[in-house]
Amino acid sequence: MSTVTAESTREHRVTVPMLRARKRRGERIAMLTAYDFTFASLFDQAGIDVLLVGDSLGNVVQGQPTTLPVTLDETIYHTRLVARAARRALVVADLPFGSYQITSEEGLRSAVRCIKEGSAQAVKLEGGRSVAETIARMVAAEIPVMGHVGLTPQAIHRMGGHRVQGRGESGRSRVLKDARAVEAAGAFAVVLEGMPADLAAEITRELSIPTIGIGAGVDCDGQVLVMHDLLGLSGDAPSFVKQYANLGALSVQAARRFAEEVAHGKFPDPEHSYR
Ligand code: KIV
Repeated sequence: MSTVTAESTREHRVTVPMLRARKRRGERIAMLTAYDFTFASLFDQAGIDVLLVGDSLGNVVQGQPTTLPVTLDETIYHTRLVARAARRALVVADLPFGSYQITSEEGLRSAVRCIKEGSAQAVKLEGGRSVAETIARMVAAEIPVMGHVGLTPQAIHRMGGHRVQGRGESGRSRVLKDARAVEAAGAFAVVLEGMPADLAAEITRELSIPTIGIGAGVDCDGQVLVMHDLLGLSGDAPSFVKQYANLGALSVQAARRFAEEVAHGKFPDPEHSYR
């Protein structure tokens, strides 16, 4: 009985080869960030294909102004919570700033920790040509890698803010070369962030690996959003974000009603008390 359950779970599990096949078949991929058990479990039930434990946790969970302070230990901790919930979705750990930039060996060590201690099935890292060797080392060590080019938040100081990348001839050529380098290094997919839609479309046509867009138009092979933006839990979402629910307003409303009922001695009422 338990063998049948385990096998059927495996059959439906989203895998790296399955995502590649999706591109060949023209089937889109839905990815969301998740940072804890509860939301990971809800998104998994909803049929989200990939759960990314993004370093955006620095912004939306920790309240930091950038993603830069996030540590590898924090990433591993949150990845473990998400992996515990994911029965179907592929879990990807986002390597934080400083965990792979110094040497490719250190990057490999960081990736191994995400798989071993966090139970991630893949890692993501930002950059193109500059991280190609690091990606290749991880792939050689049997770790599936998702690339991330265009607007790369860990390069916020070089870019001078969260600025759209790939505009103008040289910008366009830089992003295109980075995307090619990520594929050549062996990545199984690549996030295209903050770039003109026609550039993302060109990259998507050229690469054989799936592209997952965020602020990169509709022609990517998949789309990703930060869960707090999707659910209306972040204050000032960028203009490319579509808010699918307003849990922020609902949460304030619920907390306010609770506080009022406590103040007026209405909660707990007999129905919510032990006899
Ligand atoms: O950290 C993150 O959430 C990300 C996605 C926005 C792609 O990198």
